[in-house]
Amino acid sequence: MTAETSAGRLPAPRLPDRHLPWLGPLHAFRRDPVALLRTARERAGNAFAFPLLGQQVVFICGPEAHAEVFEADETVLSPREAYRFMTPVFGKGVAYDVEPEEMDAHLAHLRSALRSRQLGAYTRIMDAEARREVASWPVHGELDLLAAMQRTMVAIATRCLIGEEFVRRMGPQVSRLYHDLESGIRLAGLLSPSVPLPSFRRRDRARAAIAHANGEVIAERRRRPSESDDMLAALLAVRTPAGDPLPDEIVTGILIGTIFAGQHQSTVLATWTGVMLLRHPEFVSRLRAEQDDVCPPGTPPSVRVLHRLELLDACVREAERLHPPLVLLMRKALKGTTLCGHDVPAGTLVMISPAVAHRMPEVFANPDRFDPERYGPGRAEHRRPYSLIGFGGGKHRCIGFALAYLQVKAIWNVLLREVDLRPARPAYEPDYSTFVAAPAAPCTVRIHKRS
Ligand code: HEM
Repeated sequence: MTAETSAGRLPAPRLPDRHLPWLGPLHAFRRDPVALLRTARERAGNAFAFPLLGQQVVFICGPEAHAEVFEADETVLSPREAYRFMTPVFGKGVAYDVEPEEMDAHLAHLRSALRSRQLGAYTRIMDAEARREVASWPVHGELDLLAAMQRTMVAIATRCLIGEEFVRRMGPQVSRLYHDLESGIRLAGLLSPSVPLPSFRRRDRARAAIAHANGEVIAERRRRPSESDDMLAALLAVRTPAGDPLPDEIVTGILIGTIFAGQHQSTVLATWTGVMLLRHPEFVSRLRAEQDDVCPPGTPPSVRVLHRLELLDACVREAERLHPPLVLLMRKALKGTTLCGHDVPAGTLVMISPAVAHRMPEVFANPDRFDPERYGPGRAEHRRPYSLIGFGGGKHRCIGFALAYLQVKAIWNVLLREVDLRPARPAYEPDYSTFVAAPAAPCTVRIHKRS
């Protein structure tokens, strides 16, 4: 260990990359932030500091340390200041662009649209879209699993949240537009979300096109209210304390933010779940036996049925642990504070990594192993608070957790029944070029439809 430790000050480990003081280990961080942080943790322990793009970064790791961050007051550790670079995606006037109280009010509308009555209706859409996707596949051959999951999730998210009109209006280009929006979330955004990168220009064009189509759908719905019980209907029914409807751009911002948060990360989790099952076919036969027991062919899809698929749930959880879609969570220190007994000055960017934390041998036995049984009775390795943090924790824990698990399980409930999958690549490695780490494209797999 080469860390320079002093009372109260954080260790600054020697990082596995030669770097300039202002830039920090940018190159290694962009290539593989998880490997960089894992190596640094081995050298310096669960709390250390390093420079990155002119910012002082403090990385902390471990359930107790996570609790300090997730439970901190937002006037001290602010998600808003850390994630402002997302504003070109979510839009002005929503999410991290507004004061925390206003964001809370927007989230309350979102929560009411995710009530269990709605989830029941969404389950039928998820099942239908997964079947529609499989129907478009050849009887046997190869396909890009990530692209297939992306199409399915976009269709599900758009139909559940904005409704059929949007899908009809946007046509097949909707998947590409969401892809452009996603690929605009890069490390360079930490420096400035408006540097003239081609991916940022594509991001801005995609957002404008989606917002335009959304605006037309909203205008149409306001003229002719529909019976739909999608999220758009719920948002159009909202009244502010002054009795006014929410402005169109706020409705659009909440919808885009939700679809973005919802579909992209769920796509990635669904794809990693598939990759894990390709690698561990011994679980596929057990999962099919579970299906035969819980929902024999012909059983209508429902929230209850999906909840009862417990082994499938554990497999998704294990995919979340080994490959959390969001590999870095951040907060900005607005005031000087202490973390893990060390001083953290105002202006510091505090980072947590689910991908690093989920492989701590002190928390998860044999952490690199795919072992869905670790969540079962007697072991329950995830019970320790803030150990499994793929969906964050504390006040800002993901509000779409239940929806995301339902989507991933509904899709795999269909795929397990309909198709045999085999690997078509020797390995599936994460791609860290954006903040959401999917398997590197193309994520080619061999498929064979079951008779
Ligand atoms: C696999 C899918 C998903 C993953 C891995 C995921 C992950 C996360 C994580 C880690 C956070 C916390 C960020 C932080 O503390 O810095 C978060 C917050 C959030 N997620 Fe998700 N999410 C997923 C799906 C969804 C879905 C489906 C929705 C909406 C329907 C959603 C909406 C949100 C919102 C609104 C927040 C902010 C909550 C707040 O700040 O209070 N997410 N998500």
